Amino acid sequence: MTQANSRIITVYNHKGGVGKTLIAATLCFLAELNRIQTLAVAMDRQGDLIRWLTRGKTISRDDLYEISDYLLAVYSPNSYPGRLRYPLIVVDQSPAWEDAERVQPDLCIVPVDCIDAIINFMSAREWISISSSGVGVYFVLNNADVGGKRDLAFIKKTLARQRIVEVWDGNIPHSGVFRRAYNRKVPVWEASYAEQSTVPEEAILDLCSSILARVGFRVTKRPGLG
Ligand SMILES: Nc1ncnc2c1ncn2[C@@H]1O[C@H](COP(=O)(O)OP(=O)(O)OP(=O)(O)O)[C@@H](O)[C@H]1O
Ligand SMILES: [Mg+2]
Repeated sequence: MTQANSRIITVYNHKGGVGKTLIAATLCFLAELNRIQTLAVAMDRQGDLIRWLTRGKTISRDDLYEISDYLLAVYSPNSYPGRLRYPLIVVDQSPAWEDAERVQPDLCIVPVDCIDAIINFMSAREWISISSSGVGVYFVLNNADVGGKRDLAFIKKTLARQRIVEVWDGNIPHSGVFRRAYNRKVPVWEASYAEQSTVPEEAILDLCSSILARVGFRVTKRPGLG
């Protein structure tokens, strides 16, 4: 496999707790479901992505985890294992910019929330500085219906003025289903509440399908979820 036919998606925000691992894990689970050979790289210090994809296994540094025929994961804090090539590579980034910028992605996903607009903006500036090189930068509003709605509207408006970056049209609402998926280490669709609407799950699956489509993979959302 050559570098040319790998597609690399990174998920980064300098700010913590904005939903990076949630989006990275959902991208991986959705790609796996659609039989896209995917390499998941956890550059986050906690190795959260690996723990999630292995459904809660204890993990160790630099180990490879064969999760299924379609999903391989590696816990590689602080460094990107450039030697591993796969059709799709999803990187849950380190919050440190000097580690993050070692990866040459095709598309950067930057989840932003409303809690601290200034730190969100620092990440925005970092990415905007590289997007002039032709790398796509895609901002995603997460937790978009709690608190600071005005901050979010402001971030969205300001980012939209930048020609090179894009802001996802929708948003991921605040929902207990995401924390539940994270705590149980299952895909979001396995964490649904029986009698509640699946709007939050559908929102993130819409997002992840559209991200995968952008880098050339056509996927269908899980049957039963629209
Ligand atoms: N829209 C949301 N609604 C409710 N809970 C959410 C939402 N998005 C994320 N969460 C929860 O918030 C917590 C943090 O999310 P996540 O771990 O994906 O963020 P992160 O950016 O990877 O954080 P870190 O900086 O620690 O790596 C998790 O428990 C996650 O399930
Ligand atoms: Mg994380």
